[in-house]
Formats: sequence, C-alpha cells, structure tokens
Amino acid sequence: MDKRTFLKSAVVSTTALLALGPIACAGNKEKKKALILGGRGFLGPTIVTKFLEAGYEVTLLNRGKTNPHLFTELPIIICDREKEDLSDLKKVASQIQAHQWDVVVDTWSKNPLAVKDFLAMFSSSIDHYHYTSSIVAYGGKWDKAITEETTLRELPDKEIKYDTELPYIYRKCFSERYIMSSGVNYTLHRSHGMRGFRIPDPIDEPYWPVKFYRGDRLFVPLDENHDTQTTDVESYTDFIVHTSNNKIYGAFNVADPTITFEHYVKTLTEVFGQPKELYHIPKDFLAKHDILPYRDLPRWRPNPYGFYHIDVTKAIQNGLKIRSLEKLFKDQVDGYRHRNPKDDFVFGHHGTISQQKTEEIIALWKKTL
Ligand SMILES: NC(=O)c1ccc[n+]([C@@H]2O[C@H](COP(=O)([O-])OP(=O)(O)OC[C@H]3O[C@@H](n4cnc5c(N)ncnc54)[C@H](OP(=O)(O)O)[C@@H]3O)[C@@H](O)[C@H]2O)c1
Repeated sequence: MDKRTFLKSAVVSTTALLALGPIACAGNKEKKKALILGGRGFLGPTIVTKFLEAGYEVTLLNRGKTNPHLFTELPIIICDREKEDLSDLKKVASQIQAHQWDVVVDTWSKNPLAVKDFLAMFSSSIDHYHYTSSIVAYGGKWDKAITEETTLRELPDKEIKYDTELPYIYRKCFSERYIMSSGVNYTLHRSHGMRGFRIPDPIDEPYWPVKFYRGDRLFVPLDENHDTQTTDVESYTDFIVHTSNNKIYGAFNVADPTITFEHYVKTLTEVFGQPKELYHIPKDFLAKHDILPYRDLPRWRPNPYGFYHIDVTKAIQNGLKIRSLEKLFKDQVDGYRHRNPKDDFVFGHHGTISQQKTEEIIALWKKTL
C-alpha cells in the first residue's frame, strides 16, 4: 500500500471508529495517548501514522497553518508555541493537562525556548517525551565515527529570547540541554539526512533515485573511500514508536548504517534497472571540470569523516530495525511521482547539476576514453 492509500485508509478507519459511537469510545479508553507537537509537515505525518498504526489515540498540537487537510479527523490543539508571553500555551493549558500523555513527540526545530517553556509548563503531564534532534548535537572535529559518547557541542554563553536568531545547530543543542535538565523521561533521536516519501522542500527532490528511475545518460563520481549514510524516515519513526512502547530512554543516533556509495549505486540499478548509459568518472577529472562534492552532487561528502559515519549500534541494540534500501528508494520515487506526475522536475539547483551539465561532462569524459 503506498503512503497516500495508507493515509487515506487511516482517515477512513478513524472516522469509522468515531461513527461507532460510545462502544468504540469505551474501547478508546484503553488506548495509550500520544500528543504530537507539529505533525503536519515533513516528518510529522509519518510519526502520526505510525502511532495510529500502533493503536495509540493521537492528538496534534500546531497552529493549523501547515497542511491543514491532513488528519482532519484527529483531535487538534491549536496553539502558537512561539509567543514570548506564552499566551497561547496558557490558553490551551487545560486541554493539555486534561490528560496524562503516555507519549509526547516534539519535532521542533525553531527557537529552543519553545521546548523549554513547554516542558516547564507540562512535564508533569508527560510520561515519555521524544525529541527529533540531530547529529549536530556533537562537537569536536568529527574525524572518527560518531557515537553517543562523542563530546557534545559547546554552547555559546548567550541569553536566549524568543526573537534570538540562532543557527540550526544551536537551536537543536539548546533544545537538548533544556530537555535533559527538565526532569522528564526523554528519548533524543539524533539523525541526519532524513529521506522518505515526503520531502521538506521542492529542492529536496531525490536526485540519484530520480536519475536512475528516469534511466537517462548519467554519471556518478568515482572516489576512493566514498561512503554514504542516510536516515530512512520509516525506520526512524518505527524506532520512536518502539522506544515508546518499551519505555526506552536516553540519547540515540538513529540512521541507516554507513554503506559505500558503490553499494548505493548498485542498489539503485537493482531497483530501477541499468540506465541507458552510466559512467563512473574519477573525482580528479570532475574537480578539473569544477564538479565538486556536495556542492554539485549529493551523497558525496568526503569530509569531515564523521558526517557519514554515525554509529547506530546503540539504537540497533535497542530495537532500531533498518528497512531495506530498496524500499526507501521506491518510497522516494513514489513520493516524487506523486508530486511530479509528469516527471518534469528540473535539477540544477545547489547540490545538483542539470541534465545539460551532465551531458557536457560525459562528452568531455568520452574524449579521454
Ligand atoms: N534532512 C534532514 O535530516 C531533515 C529535513 C527536514 C527536517 N528535519 C528535522 O525533522 C524534524 C521535523 O520536521 P518538520 O519540521 O517537517 O516537522 P513536522 O512536525 O512534520 O512539521 C512542522 C510542524 O510544526 C508546526 N509548527 C510550526 N510552527 C509552529 C508554532 N509556532 N507553534 C506550533 N506549531 C508550529 C507546523 O504546523 P503549523 O504551521 O500549522 O503550526 C507543523 O505541523 C525537525 O526537527 C527537523 O530538524 C530533518
């Protein structure tokens, strides 16, 4: 079943439950309660869907602005978390405190004070709080694999207000520190490079899966020690549900294990077939023609070492299940085709190159053969 069909069926089944009236409601009393802060953007809908699938009673909390068509059958607490005077949080306090939440999942990536204030007001109503963090939590040189023992990033000594502009890395780091000192039972999920059916932004259309799906003439970089790593949104959100069900607390690196780029490309050809023409072009030749890692081609980031070497042993030992790369690629391309039914998305923005540039490089390379 594809995501659209599933989301549709999630709507139907919850609506059907409500239609059953008191009997279904009585059953619902036994259900665990999950409050999803956000829930209608990029990652949130998969989290919501997974908790519904796992039998939780799910409530959303957001402003009602992003994707208001999603999960209209679910209870929603309308609240703007970014008001410095906390007026919205105070308005909805009784709705939040009316329940003891088995689980709260926070996908927040904006001003960290919103995390601090939410927990200051409501931590006693929360049994288990999850935060979607990031590997940017780690400091140091990233010159070896990053484990949960890696030193955390130092924070700037700075008073934070709601209008304080902070880079993403510090928003995540401050949020984590506030959570750690809040007294709540928490699980921090540190990931990077999240991929799945949905994308956060049109420029995040999946370059390599789409190129192989199209089966065009294309080239891939040939670079020694070229490893890559990604986070499959499905495995990631399954882990949030798993750690909820099993009350597993602490900080976890959550991603797919590191693989070679060669393996990544081989799997793409297995899923989508061999492209009409596929060239493996050495990195030095590409550099000579101004094609650089990451700036021009995704999944190619030789430095720093740690970036694609996030050690996920601890999460695997605690129940993280890694879905196959084949399934992730299929999801990515299904999502792409859903958003671009005519398959007419044009690459060439930062981090990708256009088909014209691809043809130019291939023509230059063929002259050397
Ligand atoms: N490449 C990557 O690895 C990658 C990419 C994208 C995201 N992420 C991470 O994934 C996490 C979740 O992604 P996401 O942002 O797409 O989450 P999401 O939960 O899917 O969407 C954001 C939610 O926050 C709500 N929201 C925004 N401003 C709000 C406010 N002032 N008050 C209350 N609610 C508000 C939005 O609804 P309303 O607008 O209706 O309020 C929306 O439902 C983030 O932590 C991000 O760092 C990682």
